Amino acid sequence: MGPLVASSTRGLASSSLRQGNDAVMDRPGILLRPATSSDVPNIAELIAPFVIERKLLPRGPAELLELTVNGFVAESDGVVVGFAAIDVYSRKLAELVCLAVRADRQRAGVGKRLVRRCILRARELGVLELLAISASDEFLKDCGFDYTLPEQKRALFCQPLAPRADESSAGEDD
Ligand SMILES: CC(C)(COP(=O)(O)OP(=O)(O)OC[C@H]1O[C@@H](n2cnc3c(N)ncnc32)[C@H](O)[C@@H]1OP(=O)(O)O)[C@@H](O)C(=O)NCCC(=O)NCCS
Repeated sequence: MGPLVASSTRGLASSSLRQGNDAVMDRPGILLRPATSSDVPNIAELIAPFVIERKLLPRGPAELLELTVNGFVAESDGVVVGFAAIDVYSRKLAELVCLAVRADRQRAGVGKRLVRRCILRARELGVLELLAISASDEFLKDCGFDYTLPEQKRALFCQPLAPRADESSAGEDD
């Protein structure tokens, strides 16, 4: 999986962004609206197959509830067919998380609309950089994300729980 970052104010034409948190039905049949606490069971059901495929991290009800604060669902005839949220770490940094579109509704523009909505939310909150960790990097690049930020900045990761090659003995202090 590659890290991708997006400045919340670039990468998408402003004409394609909508202001505010109101529900938007700009394509017949698919409604995009802010998520609510009552969506949590449906979001859990939506992401379950992608968690099994290891495309998304597993998240319990409490975590999903937190994500509804800055999350959006795509709904078709009252059924949740898509979800995405931003996890806001600070005024500077947020992460696009839990992006999923039900398999039978993919490739119809729903994912892109959800990402746009999340970028707009980040912009509303004044977040400077939005990060995404995903195997769907071509999709995210289409949505305005890239591997680097201006001024030669890159996102670098380490996994504190994984053994490090440069650690010769456990508990070594330096
Ligand atoms: C990634 C995902 C959210 C895309 O949702 P979607 O509704 O199918 O996306 P869209 O229809 O908006 O697709 C937008 C564009 O990306 C392309 N695209 C969609 N899925 C793609 C994929 N898996 N690989 C490459 N390109 C893809 C589409 O062709 C489309 O291009 P176009 O606008 O030029 O036609 C969806 O495939 C999904 O839920 N995947 C499983 C969960 C997952 O991997 N989540 C992490 C994503 S960061």
